[in-house]
Amino acid sequence: MPAVEVRPGIYWAGVNDRTSDLFEGFWPVAREGVSHNSYLIDDEKKALIDITSESLLESLLSQIATVTDPAGLDYIVINHMEPDHTGALRALRRLAPRATLLGSKKAVEMMESYYGVTEGVRAVEDGETLSLGRNTLQFFSTPFVHWPETIMTYAQEQKVLFSCDGFGGYGALQGSIFADEYADLRFYEEEALRYYTNIVALFGKQVLKAIDRLKDLPVEVVAPSHGLVWRRNPGRIIELYRTWAGYATGPVEPGVTVVFGTMYGNTRAMAEAVAAGVAGAGLPVTLFDAARVHPSYILPAIYSRQGVVIGSATYEGGLFPPVRNLLSLVESKRIVGRTAAFFGSRGWGGGARREFARQAETLQWEVVDAWEMQGGPTTKDLQEGEEFGHRFAAGLRR
Ligand code: FEO
Repeated sequence: MPAVEVRPGIYWAGVNDRTSDLFEGFWPVAREGVSHNSYLIDDEKKALIDITSESLLESLLSQIATVTDPAGLDYIVINHMEPDHTGALRALRRLAPRATLLGSKKAVEMMESYYGVTEGVRAVEDGETLSLGRNTLQFFSTPFVHWPETIMTYAQEQKVLFSCDGFGGYGALQGSIFADEYADLRFYEEEALRYYTNIVALFGKQVLKAIDRLKDLPVEVVAPSHGLVWRRNPGRIIELYRTWAGYATGPVEPGVTVVFGTMYGNTRAMAEAVAAGVAGAGLPVTLFDAARVHPSYILPAIYSRQGVVIGSATYEGGLFPPVRNLLSLVESKRIVGRTAAFFGSRGWGGGARREFARQAETLQWEVVDAWEMQGGPTTKDLQEGEEFGHRFAAGLRR
């Protein structure tokens, strides 16, 4: 996709990445893709906002070249130092030797520690402005959205907020960069939530702080570094982020996530029965096999819903490893305060239930029910499993 004009003289010059399998080397994006949005301001002074990873430099350069010669850049704004935004920094530096690199004080320190770059670099202060001619950029400190050095940049006259990771999402762009040119935004909103829970959820307080800090800006375009550009209704993605950030401490959506780990299908059979019980009580339920579905896709469900039911076979005296791994990620994302229940199967001594109880305590999850069967499920076991799911869901509805 060639460079696209967002506002007069302001261009999306991003790279639509459909070849990377993993984001941050861990989160799957092979199917969905992800865009790395850079923006070019073609003014008396020319500025590039955010770069891209080393491997995508050639694509970025060809995007810039459709508007201007990369060698003529005056400024490169580094909103955020994570290498998906800066991996190409050293190489671009050589190709645009006149450009001053702008970033927060911490970003300037990181430019040295990551890339050994110390020349032609300038730290900007929170609230500082920079005239490019017809456009004035203003820099806002938004620490931990996503790293401590992160800033957002605002183009004052044209009211465009370059929000970096904030308000971003997975999902390669499909023919248009603008949210208002898609008939159905479900895919992008779901991918924005997946991105939020994978990348940003730990920093919910800082997200809310950033939204509050920016609330008096008359933003007309939200232009993040990943995902769609929000032009007709820029408030939509800000409100989604506000809602999602609120889930860290406040009420979440009704519904239940059932996650199971099974070796030979006994716990899966029970999971199906439990899910039937939840559905029978009238609550939405989503079922995940922890060994087959990457945590990237399970975290949004656990994060956004009040009820979590974990089913695990006992494996070597504890939780089935994929379930343990998932819960460890849930802990590192600090998804606390959910209402939970446990079910499982054991061959002899058990242990999964005990380990889950310890983990749930760490997560401050209220465990309202726990139930285990010995060996494979009998018809009676499955019936009890369904009742267990029904009871759990009914308790949530009260
Ligand atoms: Fe898009 Fe925190 O990197």
